[in-house]
Amino acid sequence: MASDDETSPSSFQPFSLPRRDRASLLATLPRLVIPSAKSPPTPQPPCAGPVEQSELSSARSASPAPSVVSYVPERDASRLLKAMYNRVFNATNDLYALPADETEFSRLDKQHLMHLIAIGGLYIAKDAVRRALAPEAGVQRRILDLGTGGGNWAIGMGQEFPDAEVVGVDLAPSTTRNPPPNVRFEFDDFGLGLPHFYGQFDVVHARSTANGVRNYEDFIAECVRCLRPGGVLLLVEGDMVIFDEDLRPHALAGDPLYPEDAGSWLARMLHEARNVMVQRGSSMGSGRKFRAFLGRRRDLVNAGFAEVFTNVGPWKRGPTDDVTAHYDMIGNLMRQNARQFVRSLRVLLLQHGFTEPQVEQFIAGTDRELEDLTLHMHTTWHYAWAEKDPTQSYSTPISR
Ligand SMILES: C[S@@+](CC[C@H](N)C(=O)[O-])C[C@H]1O[C@@H](n2cnc3c(N)ncnc32)[C@H](O)[C@@H]1O
Repeated sequence: MASDDETSPSSFQPFSLPRRDRASLLATLPRLVIPSAKSPPTPQPPCAGPVEQSELSSARSASPAPSVVSYVPERDASRLLKAMYNRVFNATNDLYALPADETEFSRLDKQHLMHLIAIGGLYIAKDAVRRALAPEAGVQRRILDLGTGGGNWAIGMGQEFPDAEVVGVDLAPSTTRNPPPNVRFEFDDFGLGLPHFYGQFDVVHARSTANGVRNYEDFIAECVRCLRPGGVLLLVEGDMVIFDEDLRPHALAGDPLYPEDAGSWLARMLHEARNVMVQRGSSMGSGRKFRAFLGRRRDLVNAGFAEVFTNVGPWKRGPTDDVTAHYDMIGNLMRQNARQFVRSLRVLLLQHGFTEPQVEQFIAGTDRELEDLTLHMHTTWHYAWAEKDPTQSYSTPISR
């Protein structure tokens, strides 16, 4: 499958954002600010009135996490959330192992901003997405964000495409975001199937969801079923692998194969957490299989792929001051993200046999290396996009 998009992998330049574009991206920061308690009431879409429990059950009777169009904390929080080790987690899906609290949403804010800066906007496949969302008389354009987290991407798309309807789906509510009127959040487990969404969306997006997915290829199939013919699929996954300055996998701290000062504690903690996630059934590492996954589908055309390495910490120098300033922004956001990420992984490791002193050693070591920046670390992000063949009116199964 070839890409006809202007941002095909060969022409995609993640690090060449001009200064004025960076400034306008940073101007999006206030969007990420959590509204104060005095904020005006959130405008609700027409269908988002209070939902009775009986309606919920009938909407998704087989699901432990039925769609909840309008989140009411007093009614829903205890069913959707649980507390462990002073953090809050989703209560309906045991596979997804990261917290669902404000600390985690604040980490995701930084990660979201890092993606905006790294790829110059909310999505790489600009032509394809704008074509799919172009206004057409009598057609309501729709965007689906699966595993929306704090909802930053969904809200950003709602602002960029004010005439489109945006739906963000997640296991757990982010209670403090104030979405524009064309964006709504539903609380549901996409792993239970999404037949109520089939054929309805012009763009389906999923970013950093592999931890909550058992079989990523089946997940892609479900995403494609939700697309209209001609609709665009956008996938993004990180890898939980740390690379060195030369983009080789980084040595792990505490590994007797390497000299004591060569290894990274951040790399070590991500390595251990990734292994635990895989043992639990998560499809970690799916990003690096995107080409194979999309290549096997006969109902997708114009696929494109990009791999973007981002520096963790502001250590990286570019050929010009502008490029260095760009690396600094990415590095600062990734440093804050990494500091919070190792703390978000703490509970997972404690529950899977690591002792408190071990986990504290991983975290303290990570903090040290993020502070002194003597280790030059990168992480990697896999982006993929494709269009649902407009000549097909339904989704064909993948050919294995
Ligand atoms: C790492 S966060 C990423 C959030 C957001 N996509 C972003 O990039 O900022 C992954 C999100 O996917 C959600 N998630 C994971 N598995 C899910 C599932 N089976 N159904 C719905 N949401 C899921 C989690 O609750 C979490 O909010």
